[in-house]
Amino acid sequence: MDKLLIQGSASLVGEIPVSGAKNSALPIIASSLLAEGPMVIGNLPHLQDVTTMIELLGTMGVEVVMGERMSMEIHSSTIKDLVAPYSLVKTMRASILVLGPMIARHGKAKVSLPGGCAIGSRPVDLHLKGLEAMGARINVEDGYIYAESDGRLKGAHIFMDTVTVTGTENLLMAATLADGETLIENAAREPEVVDLAECLIAMGAKIEGHGTSAIRIKGVPTLKGCHYDVMPDRIETGTYLVAAALSRGKVTLKGARADIMDAVIAKLEEAGATISIQKDSITLDMEGRRPKAVNVTTSPYPGFPTDMQAQFVVLNSLAEGSSTVVETVFENRFMHVNELVRMGANIRLEGNTAIITGVEQLKAAPVMATDLRASASLVIAGLKAEGETLVDRIYHIDRGYECIEEKLQLLGAKIKRVAS
Ligand code: EPU
Repeated sequence: MDKLLIQGSASLVGEIPVSGAKNSALPIIASSLLAEGPMVIGNLPHLQDVTTMIELLGTMGVEVVMGERMSMEIHSSTIKDLVAPYSLVKTMRASILVLGPMIARHGKAKVSLPGGCAIGSRPVDLHLKGLEAMGARINVEDGYIYAESDGRLKGAHIFMDTVTVTGTENLLMAATLADGETLIENAAREPEVVDLAECLIAMGAKIEGHGTSAIRIKGVPTLKGCHYDVMPDRIETGTYLVAAALSRGKVTLKGARADIMDAVIAKLEEAGATISIQKDSITLDMEGRRPKAVNVTTSPYPGFPTDMQAQFVVLNSLAEGSSTVVETVFENRFMHVNELVRMGANIRLEGNTAIITGVEQLKAAPVMATDLRASASLVIAGLKAEGETLVDRIYHIDRGYECIEEKLQLLGAKIKRVAS
């Protein structure tokens, strides 16, 4: 199993490109199941989760042709088997995104129920309730969700109890081919939901209100294939901005979109960073200063993203002053804290709150993490630790960060992948 070896070093300086957004790419690939014709999806990140989604479509009989420059062509009319098996769903919860499209287009689906995961119990009850409101019959048996509908789904008025990103995406996709109008209230406003909606609109769907908490969808008889480029990854962007800030460096993220990063940019500015926004890039400059501690509370978009929480715990661990980081989205998303404490961070956990007192320097240690963003946070901690940090279980990182060591090397970091 590969590991990352990081030598704590000087400030990060330079320019790197931002990859396509993982959490847009996954629902957009799933949406190709709704199209009558071929879909061409561009700006796809080269990531394990994207490969898993393609493998999932492959097991269903969908033909996928890899194109040039991070694009692929998907022919869903060749689908044979309306099943998402446990063997794939257990490796990636986002596999649940094929449920809505399959039941909407084919009236039937069998999808393995995702289990709990490292960051919380993560149920999918709201996905299922919404589909039931649209007339689907749902049975959960032997660890599988069996969904069926007599003919087309029916438009419905759905209120989501909790804001859920993939839940909103599943119902949004299902509603595009339902009879009549669907209103999803308390919908997720995440930019990835908007990106999916824009892709569905390009396929011929009738959608209004995406990006607000009330999405209105008028069902259409069919959707066509289209060419759609996935938006840039705001979490990858944010992760490198934090790495730059804690290294007291100056980094430009090319292709980044600042308009969807207000909460993160505001916190980085509060931490003392000078941020300049150009048309297609964001530059962060610490001018050699040590970051200042900032309080953070995660919440659904446009609030501060839970996917940036671990990185800000690291920033605060090295910042001047004390801070609190409160996690409100997932119940168990502090797995990085004990590892950071082993690296010399001063963090105390009280329920869903991390209370952090910044230290001048972390110390290298062998560390490992159990989820994607936690692993990324350990890598950036290693950049500012004295000595050599060895990060284990980096398959988590490969699920969500394209070429992380190459990108960090371009900024001057001393990091390499080692086989063990
Ligand atoms: N929830 C329910 N019932 C449901 C669905 C969700 O109670 O039916 C709860 C969850 O347990 C959680 C909260 O709602 O407490 C929010 O979860 P959400 O459903 O929004 O999470 P998700 O859709 O499974 C996506 C991202 C995550 C990201 C979260 C929150 C994808 C593929 N995944 O997950 O990304 O953390 O939204 O923004 O889009 C990551 O990239 O590392 C990652 C974990």
